[in-house]
Amino acid sequence: MAYKYLLLEKEDGIGILYINRPEAMNALNTDVLKELGQAAADVAADDEIKALIITGAGDKAFVAGADIKEMSALTATEGREFGITGGWAFRQIEKLEKAVIAAINGFALGGGCELAMACDIRLASDKAKFGQPEVGLGITPGFGGTQRLPRLVGEGRAMELILSANVINAEEAMRIGLVNHVYPVESLMDEAKKLAKKIISNAPLAVKFSKAAINKGIQTDIDTAMSIEADLFGICFATEDQKAGMGAFLAKEKAVFKGK
Ligand code: HXC
Repeated sequence: MAYKYLLLEKEDGIGILYINRPEAMNALNTDVLKELGQAAADVAADDEIKALIITGAGDKAFVAGADIKEMSALTATEGREFGITGGWAFRQIEKLEKAVIAAINGFALGGGCELAMACDIRLASDKAKFGQPEVGLGITPGFGGTQRLPRLVGEGRAMELILSANVINAEEAMRIGLVNHVYPVESLMDEAKKLAKKIISNAPLAVKFSKAAINKGIQTDIDTAMSIEADLFGICFATEDQKAGMGAFLAKEKAVFKGK
């Protein structure tokens, strides 16, 4: 479908979704958030897209946060609704049964850092900057930052970032585990595509089940989580891809996967 604030391109099985509002540093207003939720559904339904990269249009920002102009006039009820809209949109991205890579090309502040955290894997350019500046605006993070940041970097580091509103560079973000890799800005998209290609060369159902096992398991106790893992591991043996993968190994050939 056509979007006003997003651009969705397809290239060799990879979807590339640009947040496309560069005149406002790709800030997230209600319309952008609704489009993001819709885009997640569109990507889910599109068999040509096997993995997704999310990045920011322009050369300055991934996303510089939720739209401060829109938020400035909200009532408490509207603020809650705004938070829920963003939380819903990001959860649609997180729940996609395809790998999602954030290619963080510049500022990832507030809602931008929260969007990156809803993706499965974060790659940053050496120009990227990260932070949760909300408390400096008189608000809390509201698109999942208080929940995903401690899960990713630990409670102490999340407390420091959120309570101080400090902005950190890409190297520091990598040191604390907020991003996986840092690349020169010119090679960021190539590296993101390379990783996406590597992921989609594997057995699609095994990739999907692995993502589900991690995402479901991390939210529950270890016994339930191990049982989720056992169920998904077991289901793999009902797939053609398991036979193709193991058969190819034993025959010293390269596996051809069908996603069945
Ligand atoms: C609305 C924004 C914006 C934002 C930038 N712009 N960030 N508009 N919301 N979050 C707009 C500016 O107003 C300006 O518009 C244009 O984009 C260019 O920005 P500049 O500030 O002129 O650029 P620069 O000097 O390079 O500074 C870049 C920046 C700065 C450091 C990223 O823009 C900045 O600090 N932005 C706000 C970052 C922030 O606090 N984010 C968290 C928001 S709270 P004009 O019209 O003047 O050209 C949040 C809460 C999430 O995200 C949870 C909600 C429930």
